[in-house]
Amino acid sequence: MKPLFELKQLTKKHWDAQEKKELFSDITATIERPERIALLGKSGQGKSTLLRILAKLDSIDRGKIYFNGQLMNEVDSRRWRMNICYVAQQATMLPGTITDNLMTSSKIHNRPFEEDFARQLIKEVGLDHLDWEKQAGNLSGGEKQRIALVRSLLLRPKILLLDEITASLDQQSKELVEQLLVKLYEKEKIAFIWVTHDTEQAKNISERIWYMEDGKLASDVKTSEFFGDRASSPKQVML
Ligand SMILES: Nc1ncnc2c1ncn2[C@@H]1O[C@H](COP(=O)(O)OP(=O)(O)OP(=O)(O)O)[C@@H](O)[C@H]1O
Ligand SMILES: [Mg+2]
Repeated sequence: MKPLFELKQLTKKHWDAQEKKELFSDITATIERPERIALLGKSGQGKSTLLRILAKLDSIDRGKIYFNGQLMNEVDSRRWRMNICYVAQQATMLPGTITDNLMTSSKIHNRPFEEDFARQLIKEVGLDHLDWEKQAGNLSGGEKQRIALVRSLLLRPKILLLDEITASLDQQSKELVEQLLVKLYEKEKIAFIWVTHDTEQAKNISERIWYMEDGKLASDVKTSEFFGDRASSPKQVML
């Protein structure tokens, strides 16, 4: 069987070539089967840029990306993003109500709107008190983040690319989101690559750590190994 996701020698040039030639280079990694990965690294390493490239939202300067053996360049962007879905830190709401926002994915992809599934997800992220006729633009940052996550989950993607998606959530809501995503992985085999600066979160949600440093994928190891090794290392807090 083909690996679920393959990243081969991905290189992104720095846009200020005088300062630095590459933002990152030769990032190579394979996800054989669905897995829970936390992507860590200091601010400005290019984690968001990498996720956006993987979702076909940004261009790559060198390298190849395969999903189930299919080369990204040969797959239409819309079809690619049905399977590989980027959820941004700053959630953007589309004009209209919460219902309008939740129905977007089904409209774009010509699929029936799964209302029961939407209600279940909304409940599981702790938003069942919300009136769906409310204007989405008036929601709080944390509410928008969770609506954006549910909107993506309604696509039933195979790989989620999660960019600090709990950054504006309170502890309880954050835990609800973590539990939901781990459950979806266990039940539906939805894999994720989750960027976070929260060490506790990385330990709770991941099986494997990708650690970016100096423009390279410096570590690709089991979560227990990563944190075990770094327990006595000064680098430990550089997330
Ligand atoms: N070609 C490029 N594409 C995107 N960002 C680039 C590029 N070249 C240089 N940069 C710079 O590199 C940094 C990449 O930012 P990015 O948001 O991907 O980092 P990050 O690891 O997600 O950081 P944070 O943890 O703060 O979210 C920014 O400072 C950006 O200005
Ligand atoms: Mg980022």
